[in-house]
Amino acid sequence: MTAGPSHPPLAAPSPWVARFADLVANGGTVLDYACGSGRHARWFAARGHPVVAVDRDATALAALGAVAGVSTVQADLEDGPWPFDQGRYAAVVMTNYLFRPRFERMCDLVADGGVLLAETFMVGNERFGKPSNPAFLLKPGELIERTAGEFSLVAFEQGKVASPKPAVLQRICAIRGSAMGTLPQSPGGET
Ligand SMILES: C[S@@+](CC[C@H](N)C(=O)[O-])C[C@H]1O[C@@H](n2cnc3c(N)ncnc32)[C@H](O)[C@@H]1O
Repeated sequence: MTAGPSHPPLAAPSPWVARFADLVANGGTVLDYACGSGRHARWFAARGHPVVAVDRDATALAALGAVAGVSTVQADLEDGPWPFDQGRYAAVVMTNYLFRPRFERMCDLVADGGVLLAETFMVGNERFGKPSNPAFLLKPGELIERTAGEFSLVAFEQGKVASPKPAVLQRICAIRGSAMGTLPQSPGGET
């Protein structure tokens, strides 16, 4: 019996982000927001997108700075000056991070017709560990509520996942404006 890996390596992109990546305009600039090790920055850069990767963690950014196509910005996203131009990005990717007071500002960084890809923890996750602070846990349907009006919803999910570790997550893919996105092929193969 061959034992395969039980979960993807940490550096792998979120399957949710990868699933909707074709909605991002060819060659459009992607912002990896609170990028950490930059798994999404690296992945989008490898797909030919210029990427801006932002985090407050200089050590994480140092390793990313050498990646072709990725430029890094060290900034505190929760305090101080806002280092971005509004409406500039073909996609903003926010995973495993939440700071409500600047969520709307982050959304404003998405260009008209651009894509917001977000996936983070929601209430219920406290049963499995951290984050357990309500400030870091989305409420049911919150990503829909927070993007309604400015974005067209493409896909939304919320619930418990077993892998890569038990957690309760919420995910959205939305396009800024009224444009209708083309759905990616579903895992079953039908379009
Ligand atoms: C759990 S990691 C997620 C990393 C990445 N988005 C991912 O999913 O692989 C959260 C990231 O948020 C960053 N972060 C937390 N507070 C921040 C702040 N105030 N300003 C900028 N980055 C912050 C941390 O440095 C860390 O890299």
